[in-house]
Amino acid sequence: MLEIVVITVSDRAFRGEYEDLSGPKIRELILASDLSAKVTLTVVPDEREAIHTAIVDNLDKDFIFTTGGTGISSRDITPEVTQEICEKSLPGIDEFLRRESFKETPFAVLSSGFSGMKAKTMIINLPGSVKAVTLCTNLMLPILAHAKKMVEGGKH
Ligand code: MTE
Repeated sequence: MLEIVVITVSDRAFRGEYEDLSGPKIRELILASDLSAKVTLTVVPDEREAIHTAIVDNLDKDFIFTTGGTGISSRDITPEVTQEICEKSLPGIDEFLRRESFKETPFAVLSSGFSGMKAKTMIINLPGSVKAVTLCTNLMLPILAHAKKMVEGGKH
């Protein structure tokens, strides 16, 4: 059983100005896959403390997906906060997600999502749009079970 939390980072979704569609989309895709997973959702504003707390509070999970806050505005700080917490970076994931996203839109180069490990938790930043999280979640799904096995010291 994979324990996963999805953190939506969005001022407007947090204030209820629009419905968060990206977090539920990530959960829907994970639950529709053949993985055995428990997925919880949370929404926080684009504030350093709120993002930091949401991540740190969920370090008992196997995976933390964030959505949003990876763009180039000054309030987009999800990758910076994630990087501060992580002990190890996973550039292969970011390269993969950006390379594949670039096939969908050249604007994917503006996404600065970061992925890394804090102890046994893998944290993966996804962009904010439903289109982006659909592509990126589907790219990650085949990797999750193996990643958990490896982190627990399993052999290839
Ligand atoms: N990745 C995919 N697969 N599909 C997309 O439509 N949009 C991009 C990018 N990554 C996109 C994508 C755009 S337009 C931006 S600005 C960045 O993600 C950052 O998104 P965020 O600010 O919503 O986090």
